[in-house]
Amino acid sequence: MDDTLPQTLPQTSPQTSPQTMSDDSQTTRRDFLYLATGAVAAVGAGGVAIPLIDQMNPAASVKALASIEVDISTIEAGQSVTVTWRGKPVFIRHRTKQEIAEAQAVVSADLPDPQTDKERVKKDEWLIMVGVCTHLGCVPLGQAGDFKGWFCPCHGSHYDTSGRIRRGPAPTNLEIPAYSFLTDTRVKIG
Ligand code: FES
Repeated sequence: MDDTLPQTLPQTSPQTSPQTMSDDSQTTRRDFLYLATGAVAAVGAGGVAIPLIDQMNPAASVKALASIEVDISTIEAGQSVTVTWRGKPVFIRHRTKQEIAEAQAVVSADLPDPQTDKERVKKDEWLIMVGVCTHLGCVPLGQAGDFKGWFCPCHGSHYDTSGRIRRGPAPTNLEIPAYSFLTDTRVKIG
């Protein structure tokens, strides 16, 4: 062992062949610097790209939330769904014939916030409105209250089957959002 150690060590030690190792080291170091620079550049590019994307995100997300499309093909008469639009609940009610008849029979001039049912729907069977009580912002319960429409239990506001305020402290009817029917079974809200 002692015989081989001195022969081996000088071959691998920097002191025994400084010139050769220096060249190798320079090459290795230079390659490393290229790699490191490349890595920094990649990170730098990533660092630049992310803020740009982040800056674009709010506009993109706001745009995405500005309108939503809802498939209403599976909502049977007498059923409702609640979707979220711009952070608010939106009720999509597939009204029954009776609900439509009751909504249309009301003399709108007598209402706290006079509106005919026709002014509130695009198709008689579909009532689409923001599910936020116009009093202080609670979410009313569906198919409840004295008029079998919506009832807000917070302070007792009763809405009819057209979402119009009929009794209680809410000052106005439930809001109708901007919407359109893309097809018979697809609606775009916003
Ligand atoms: S928040 Fe609905 S009645 Fe007050």
